[in-house]
Amino acid sequence: MFRLYIFITALTTLIALTTSISIKKTGKNWYKNSLVYHVYPRSFKDSNGDGIGDLNGITSKLEHIADIGADALWLSPIYTSPQFDFGYDVANYTDVDKDYGTLADFDKLVARAKFLGLKVILDFVPNHSSHEHEWFKKSVQRIKPYDEYYIWRDAKIVNGIRKPPNNWLSVVRGSAWEWNEARKQYYLHQFNIPQADLNYRSAALQQEMKNVLNFWLNRDVDGFRIDTISHLFEDVRFLDEPRRNISDSPEDDYETLDHIYTRNLLEIYDVLKSWRKLADNHSKTADTKIILTEADTDFAMYYESGSNVPFNFMFILDLNNKSSAADFKRLIDRWMNNIPDNPAYVANWVVGNHDNHRAAFRFGEKRADQLSMLATVLPGVSVIYNGDEIGMHDRNFTYEETKDPIGCIAGPNRYHLKSRDPERTPFQWDNSTSAGFSASNRTWLPVNSNYGTLNLAVQRITAVSHYKVFKSLSRLKRRPVIEQGSLQTVLVTENMLGIIRRHGASVVALVINFADTSVTADARTWMNIPEQLIVYASSVHSKLLAGSRIDTTRITIPGSASVVLTTADLV
Ligand code: GLC
Repeated sequence: MFRLYIFITALTTLIALTTSISIKKTGKNWYKNSLVYHVYPRSFKDSNGDGIGDLNGITSKLEHIADIGADALWLSPIYTSPQFDFGYDVANYTDVDKDYGTLADFDKLVARAKFLGLKVILDFVPNHSSHEHEWFKKSVQRIKPYDEYYIWRDAKIVNGIRKPPNNWLSVVRGSAWEWNEARKQYYLHQFNIPQADLNYRSAALQQEMKNVLNFWLNRDVDGFRIDTISHLFEDVRFLDEPRRNISDSPEDDYETLDHIYTRNLLEIYDVLKSWRKLADNHSKTADTKIILTEADTDFAMYYESGSNVPFNFMFILDLNNKSSAADFKRLIDRWMNNIPDNPAYVANWVVGNHDNHRAAFRFGEKRADQLSMLATVLPGVSVIYNGDEIGMHDRNFTYEETKDPIGCIAGPNRYHLKSRDPERTPFQWDNSTSAGFSASNRTWLPVNSNYGTLNLAVQRITAVSHYKVFKSLSRLKRRPVIEQGSLQTVLVTENMLGIIRRHGASVVALVINFADTSVTADARTWMNIPEQLIVYASSVHSKLLAGSRIDTTRITIPGSASVVLTTADLV
């Protein structure tokens, strides 16, 4: 009897384990149709009850990431940091912050991820370090070669008064220059004051950053997401930037200047190419080391300089819940048409991230699944922010509760326009204490009060849920029709967008209704799809049941709903 019990337990564990193991993608092309899952470590899972997420917490939840069909996880910064900008202010690039654990914990995370078939991508923050970094302290003291690791300039004296060297503004507001009394010079910070810009015109600094990349590649990471790469270089003449005609922003707001001397300088591409070369030379396996870049312009140049994923932020920056079906079609087509003609370059679709409101907030609860559907049915890489797979919502914060420095600096009247806290609340695992995120009921950011009903555990056992929709989409993404199929975008009616993927006799048709009320149309004719298709997945509020047969000559899509239809071979 006891033996039987042990056998059954072992079998159940094995089944649970194998169902979570991803079918590992390998080789040169592994990333081309991948699903990258973005983890915000502080908010994912707390293993030691201090209310802050950590590496061991992430390791304990890797099965979930494999279970939803991700190929890779990208971790927001885990390095030693005073946490002024929650890790984007690095004080030591080659160690783990004590909030998150140790290097040994990191190695365990990587080993477990590899076992589950997941690749690990780190956030690399090259534009600036924390002012608590040893390099900065030595730079202040003018110790060589650190003296030139940062951008230092003398003050401008106007009528005997000390002024910053020019009018450059920081992304978070106010002058981008901070006076340092010890060195008697200003240093540049394009972000917050404690984030000093590094000087890429110093060969020694460039080498230092390469050493950092090697350090992590030696620990078996599979690539990097490069933070805010468009700010890497500044024009050496240090001229004032021209003003833009913007009336509704305070005059020291970043948007009021045209950033011709501080953004997107051509020198960036040479540095990126050198990082590409380093990653390629390092590869012990044939698997490409993936490079994702955070920049908002000229993605063709980023592809050509070695980025596999120059982030496509169209769903965040260019489209919103007022955009029409035609707006979506135009922007999707434009992106696809502008990818330089090279088989190495694939599209990518970012659904959300830690800097922007959640998809369910931006597009509304009824459209919470729509962006994930687009991101998985369209060709290329899908980038999903943790929590979006269960349709997590933003939480409203008061100014007093605000932790994000950008929100705090904006002040009580404007913090709600800038703060990124609403999308960074802890992951909602279940309905226990702090949504199962932490054993403590005091968490670094409060848990959203809707966790009792909106959580992963509930969605796993509910017949129709965001989690189930997401899982079926990621399964579909692995089929040849999505990996290799052709793409067509069609306006079925003014309010109905169709995305069609074909491969041999297999057809996938994503149909989205942009109107609030239901729309009936002849999708068969306009999309040139078979008369009979099967509902493969549909947005949770649509009431269109997966598995049901649809007559596409008279298809009715409820208001704000989206549905993925397929031929029978794909069900
Ligand atoms: C990037 C990060 C953001 C951070 C900023 C400064 O935009 O995504 O969170 O605050 O860079 O490093």
